[in-house]
Amino acid sequence: MSGKYEQRDKEVILVVDDNRITCEVIQRNLEIEKFLVFTAHSVNDAIQILSRQKIDLVITDYKMPKHSGLELIKYVRDHLQSISIIMLTGYGSINSAVSAIKEGADEYITKPFTDEELLNAVKTSLQKQKEKKTDPEMLYNDVWARFGIMGQSEKMLGVYSKIEKACSNDAIVLITGENGTGKELVARAIHYNHKARSIYPFIPVNCPGIPASLFESELFGHVKGAFTGAVEHRKGFFQAAEKGGLFLDEISELPFELQAKLLRVLQEKEIFRVGETQLKKVDVRIIAATNKNLDDLVEKGLFRQDLFFRLNVININIPPLRDRENDIILLAKHFVLKYAKEIGRTEPNFTDRAINALKNYSWPGNVRELENLIHRSLIMNDKDIIDSVDFPDIMKVKIHYNPYLDLSLEDMSKKYIRDVVQQTGGNKAKALEILKIDRKTLLKKIK
Ligand SMILES: Nc1ncnc2c1ncn2[C@@H]1O[C@H](COP(=O)(O)OP(=O)(O)OP(=O)(O)O)[C@@H](O)[C@H]1O
Ligand SMILES: [Mg+2]
Repeated sequence: MSGKYEQRDKEVILVVDDNRITCEVIQRNLEIEKFLVFTAHSVNDAIQILSRQKIDLVITDYKMPKHSGLELIKYVRDHLQSISIIMLTGYGSINSAVSAIKEGADEYITKPFTDEELLNAVKTSLQKQKEKKTDPEMLYNDVWARFGIMGQSEKMLGVYSKIEKACSNDAIVLITGENGTGKELVARAIHYNHKARSIYPFIPVNCPGIPASLFESELFGHVKGAFTGAVEHRKGFFQAAEKGGLFLDEISELPFELQAKLLRVLQEKEIFRVGETQLKKVDVRIIAATNKNLDDLVEKGLFRQDLFFRLNVININIPPLRDRENDIILLAKHFVLKYAKEIGRTEPNFTDRAINALKNYSWPGNVRELENLIHRSLIMNDKDIIDSVDFPDIMKVKIHYNPYLDLSLEDMSKKYIRDVVQQTGGNKAKALEILKIDRKTLLKKIK
């Protein structure tokens, strides 16, 4: 039997019992069968381990001081649906077995149990867990619970598997995607699910927000007296993120001369604080993001190729919302629920017309635009339905949107106005109503 298990990746089991001897006995038995086993002696310890470590199966005692095994089952079911659970109950306490199953345990074993009973229960539960993992609904619930990301589209599946990969190593990640697609959300998901770094800080840095003259001092820190105004030692972002993660947002906006300085740090993993000659080692995971096409910028000589190569180890491209049609409604309903709860009212339903309008719109501002739209609709009207009349006029026309079109603002606005006129079938009055501009401007722009 153990031969069969040697073929596969080790399954990971967490054993939770306040009795250390029980924990050790179970651990030993399962390790002989080639499982990887963690132990915890309280529910709080168990939750700590669950937040750091990928676990396939939890075996928990029922009666423990402070929090009971039932509370642990509740936690796992609320946060980590696809994990299997076996409850250990005292002899004759059928009531606790029933409540364990009711709360979502997959199996229970009554103490005392034989090694064989334990192993059988483990195998049955792991089999159930495998089935759950291939059930798409479960998979998405799990992604939401672990990453805080909504989306069931094929395209997002690719994103999830890359996040998963990024969580188990320290490679630099470059996240690309249009405005509002969820780049920061993905960066946080990677950090907070990283096996070692999640308990250390995640520091977001908005690159264009740092004045070039302060770049080194902000990133690497300075010592007292390094320059006028440096009245005390100050840690930079790199040191603040020690052992954790640094999120370099809008990396494309970093001035060319500073790109070389950043590259050096990424290569050497050492920094100089301003005013100091001694190098300091840094241990920081870098995640960078951009809504620009870095390839293009490299070609135009605006972004260093060597830095681009350094950053582009794991590339996660988040597709625009318009390319994830199935996610639009899912996200819309998610935001309705979120904001209805926040303002304390029951959530309204969408009319068919509203659903169509949501699906047909091009969402240039992606998920953020959708979230703002739903929030506004909930504040602006208190009906128990959301209809397309509640949406802004701009959503009534279907415009093909290409953010990478190389147009000036003036040309972009002309193109947009022409598109609207075309969409209204040349009905200028309708176009004026949608565009909210006067006739003279319209005629000038479509000339
Ligand atoms: N898949 C998703 N599920 C749930 N919420 C999402 C999702 N994608 C984005 N959001 C929400 O949309 C908003 C914008 O996301 P975020 O700030 O991560 O985008 P971004 O790509 O960094 O945007 P920008 O380019 O403008 O900086 C946030 O409120 C975020 O929580
Ligand atoms: Mg962002």
